[in-house]
Amino acid sequence: MPRIDRRPRRPVVLVTGASSGLGLAVLRRLYNQSVHVVATARVASLPRFAAMGIRPGPTLALLPLDVTDADQRRDVLAQVEQRFGGVDVLINNAGVAYRSVVEQVTEAERLTQMDVNFLAPMALARLVLPHMRAQRWGRIINVSSVGGMMAMPTMAVYSASKFALEGASEALWYEVRPWNVHVTLVQPGFISSESFKNTRFTAASRCATADRRDPYHEHYANMGPFIAKIMRLARATPDTVARRIVRTLDARRPPLRVPATLDAYLFAALRRLLPRGLYHRALYGALPGVRRWGPHETEATPAVAPLANPTADRPR
Ligand SMILES: NC(=O)c1ccc[n+]([C@@H]2O[C@H](COP(=O)([O-])OP(=O)(O)OC[C@H]3O[C@@H](n4cnc5c(N)ncnc54)[C@H](OP(=O)(O)O)[C@@H]3O)[C@@H](O)[C@H]2O)c1
Repeated sequence: MPRIDRRPRRPVVLVTGASSGLGLAVLRRLYNQSVHVVATARVASLPRFAAMGIRPGPTLALLPLDVTDADQRRDVLAQVEQRFGGVDVLINNAGVAYRSVVEQVTEAERLTQMDVNFLAPMALARLVLPHMRAQRWGRIINVSSVGGMMAMPTMAVYSASKFALEGASEALWYEVRPWNVHVTLVQPGFISSESFKNTRFTAASRCATADRRDPYHEHYANMGPFIAKIMRLARATPDTVARRIVRTLDARRPPLRVPATLDAYLFAALRRLLPRGLYHRALYGALPGVRRWGPHETEATPAVAPLANPTADRPR
């Protein structure tokens, strides 16, 4: 019998972004275990539950929650407190991913990315922690990514948001341990799912993807299909990652970081074992079609002389 079932009362598990992908897989895994599930989704996505035959019941609440909306966050927490007493397990799963190079993201696009993937999960953590501390038990699972341990070109703001989530979660892990509250970063690598179709483009990156004359066109033309292909070929599925999440929240002492797919283990090991310079050069060399990435023939040759120290611009 899972450990979590042995709590004095049915633990209340709140999942964000539960209407598709990994969030939905977690909901399906938790449903019918001895827990109360509070599955949340944006208002526009709630009808998907009914379409899939998932209906609210005594152990399942389906609530609207756009994680970036502070009023909705407070409303959901108030409803859960009134009905169940509080959230014992928070699974911050909702996420978006922008594909864009650093130069082609506006302030507003950057903020949206950071809001969904970093600011909102931490805001939800702040709301559930008083209850967890009071009962001296709680679990917070933040769904991070391989993108939270390594950055890829054209995914800069996504990586920034997951790196931020990793940093804050690591600090939180130390802060709340005295109350027996455990924080875990689940790090999926590539998952075989349709979710790459949900990747967002910035206004500029959309134009650059279509416009062969854009200096960054080759970056997108090569990285997009490359990532889509790896996701199609990936062995991990939303369900295999959901199983890791459920197993993690059931552990007596869940670890801070859980690589959730084989490639996540591999990248974590590479990052740890290879000297930084070598690691970055090896990955750079492995980028698809990297020799074709700018500059284009039409671009002027830079008039700047090379620096005296030839190693100065190497990644460290
Ligand atoms: N798929 C992968 O290969 C992969 C790899 C590493 C990490 N991850 C992470 O895994 C998590 C789940 O992703 P997924 O693969 O399941 O992708 P997905 O199928 O696109 O699901 C993302 C979910 O987040 C929800 N969401 C987006 N913005 C929201 C908001 N403002 N408020 C509430 N919900 C919102 C979406 O709801 P709507 O449908 O209403 O937009 C959707 O249910 C994300 O944190 C992602 O970064 C995924």
